[in-house]
Amino acid sequence: MTTTTITRWEDGSKEELSELRAGLDAQYAAWKAKGLRLDLSRGKPSPDVLDLSNALLDGLDTYLTEDGTDVRNYGVISGIPECKRLFSELLGIPADRMIVGGNSSLTHMYNTFVMLYLFGANGSAPWGAQEKIKILCPCPGYDRHFSVSEDFGAEMVVVPLLEDGPDMDIVEALAREDASVKGIWLVPLYANPTGSVVSGETARRLAAMPAAADDFRIFWDNAYGVHHVFEEHTLPDILSLCEEAGNPERAFYFFSTSKINFPGAGIGLVAAGPRTAAQMLSHIKMQTIGYDKIIQLKTVKFFGGRAEGIREHMRKIRALLRPKFELVLDVLEREFSGTGILEWTPPKGGYFVSVNTMDGCAKSVVALAKEAGVVLTGAGATYPLGKDPRDRNIRIAPTYPGIEELAQTMELFALCVKLASIDKLLAGK
Ligand SMILES: Cc1ncc(COP(=O)(O)O)c(C=O)c1O
Repeated sequence: MTTTTITRWEDGSKEELSELRAGLDAQYAAWKAKGLRLDLSRGKPSPDVLDLSNALLDGLDTYLTEDGTDVRNYGVISGIPECKRLFSELLGIPADRMIVGGNSSLTHMYNTFVMLYLFGANGSAPWGAQEKIKILCPCPGYDRHFSVSEDFGAEMVVVPLLEDGPDMDIVEALAREDASVKGIWLVPLYANPTGSVVSGETARRLAAMPAAADDFRIFWDNAYGVHHVFEEHTLPDILSLCEEAGNPERAFYFFSTSKINFPGAGIGLVAAGPRTAAQMLSHIKMQTIGYDKIIQLKTVKFFGGRAEGIREHMRKIRALLRPKFELVLDVLEREFSGTGILEWTPPKGGYFVSVNTMDGCAKSVVALAKEAGVVLTGAGATYPLGKDPRDRNIRIAPTYPGIEELAQTMELFALCVKLASIDKLLAGK
């Protein structure tokens, strides 16, 4: 793109950077003139990925589940048996601790907060009756975890997210010392947005750490649990680890088929410790006389009733996703390797690539991209209240656009990072 000979941009002289800037300005003007309308902001499957699940739109050849329940009618709160068995086999969580139903795991997360705030779990005082509740938020993280916490008035405490999960020394100290610290959000496999993976050791520490609050909770959101793009990791079994550590009610496990089949038109799932799962079911019974069982039966049929059916399907999705991730990483490598103006860690899987600009540049990059017709995830979205303290993290969501569009978008993205970085560097010269 540019003809600069500067390698590490910080080392460039004012004159060199200004010259570089003039060239980049011309490129940017040319991009703006193209009148692009591209969107790289939300993690959605592309139409070709959705097409892989079109058989779900077909009718069923039976309306009866294996135990003879008519899925067209009311009833069955916690999910039809074959569907619970399918997810139990896939995820290794006991079917009798699982509530399968509804079209979104986020609804289960919100409902979980409703229960904890209104009723408390297992005899603990309701969170809503307490003066202050703090929730630990490993960052960068998923914006909707933060908005759920915010909706209930919880104070969100940022904890650095490392390569193998949250910084456990900080998490342990906060949980041990402060009884108002009540929980932690986690996307344990292929995190949104970093694509990192929680290690067995981190999971063990989370399950076993002493907490000042006897109702400390782990919100284990396994949204990308089968999205192996570059590597294939096995998730530590958090429910068993909690049980073994003497904290059987500590973790809530969330999952859904949103990023497997059709987002918002599939199945959500929550599992928990034995007493908590029973309590959740008692509240859900007041909300519904039964979730949509038709989609549950269809999902079971679609995957041949086997976890391997889901894995096979995910391999097809991986074949479509991987070239997009490779494209993004190639552009980052080509344009930024050694420059010192952008850092990133290649994701192991999942749906996103997370990058850090120089401090104070992320908002400018997003604004520049927008002005040239490309919508990126808002800067700050990966931190509570939209406030990235260093204004540097940007989530790239490459799954939706076609490969050509993505290539264009990434070229423009690279240009915007360079422009914002040069401004920052020139301001300091
Ligand atoms: C980490 C994470 N959890 C949950 C969701 C939403 O899942 P669902 O559609 O099951 O509500 C998303 C969607 O992007 C996500 O990234």
